[in-house]
Amino acid sequence: MSDAANSTTKVTQPLGASDGFEIPRHVAIIMDGNGRWAAARGLPRVEGHRRGVEALRKTVRAAGDLGIGVLTIFSFSSENWSRPQSEIRDLLSLLRRFIRNDLADLHKSNVRVRVIGERGDLDPDIRRLLQEAEDLTHGNDGLSLVVAFNYGARQEIARAVRRIALDVAQGRLAADDVTPEHIAHYLDAPDIPDPDVIIRTSGEQRLSNFLLWQAAYSELVFVPINWPDFDRSALESAIAEYHRRERRFGGLVAQTGS
Ligand code: FPP
Repeated sequence: MSDAANSTTKVTQPLGASDGFEIPRHVAIIMDGNGRWAAARGLPRVEGHRRGVEALRKTVRAAGDLGIGVLTIFSFSSENWSRPQSEIRDLLSLLRRFIRNDLADLHKSNVRVRVIGERGDLDPDIRRLLQEAEDLTHGNDGLSLVVAFNYGARQEIARAVRRIALDVAQGRLAADDVTPEHIAHYLDAPDIPDPDVIIRTSGEQRLSNFLLWQAAYSELVFVPINWPDFDRSALESAIAEYHRRERRFGGLVAQTGS
């Protein structure tokens, strides 16, 4: 049985209508629908992204309160560079502002910030901010907030394969010894357990190059609201939906989330 099969922890707080819910250890979220949220209100897209940051703050607080161990958020994909320059600028400045304004609070709340994705081609000031967030919160042992920034799962797997190829070429690893566990070990955050559940807002039902390797046995929960409307109760409902799923990890014996 994979590690992920045991990846739940008991919490005593009530979750929605139920008491003593098993909380998933790792929740990952594709925060989608900011643009549609704004368009529906006749607002510029950037306003949807701004409200998206507020939804993110609420969700991080709720995740910490619920006892979730890891929250991974898809905040900028490798493919988002194809958006208009003005929107890219808006998203980058929201990230800068989020780190500058919220880092101290996150640190005070014992949140550990981690970053996955390709940093090499980011502006030096963004690289510095991401590094500062990781360094400052390194010793925290509360919620791990994994920010997927300039992230694409195929690119992450390609990076892992390049590192493996180098280790094989330099004699540190035999090609015949490469196993799925090895590959996982070379990914951006190898110590983080696979997500138990991946939530996507906005009603779209696909992974869009997010955590493709790690999602092998994740439950997928698609929520029909746009990201700016996501909050604690939406998170609790999504976890309740995860709870109703039966997780078998390829085996025969049924294992439920409860
Ligand atoms: C998808 O909405 C969302 C994004 C591309 C970015 C998510 C970003 C945030 C929530 C705010 C930024 C937060 C940080 C920390 C940088 P969309 O624009 O694709 O919406 P649409 O599909 O309705 O157009």
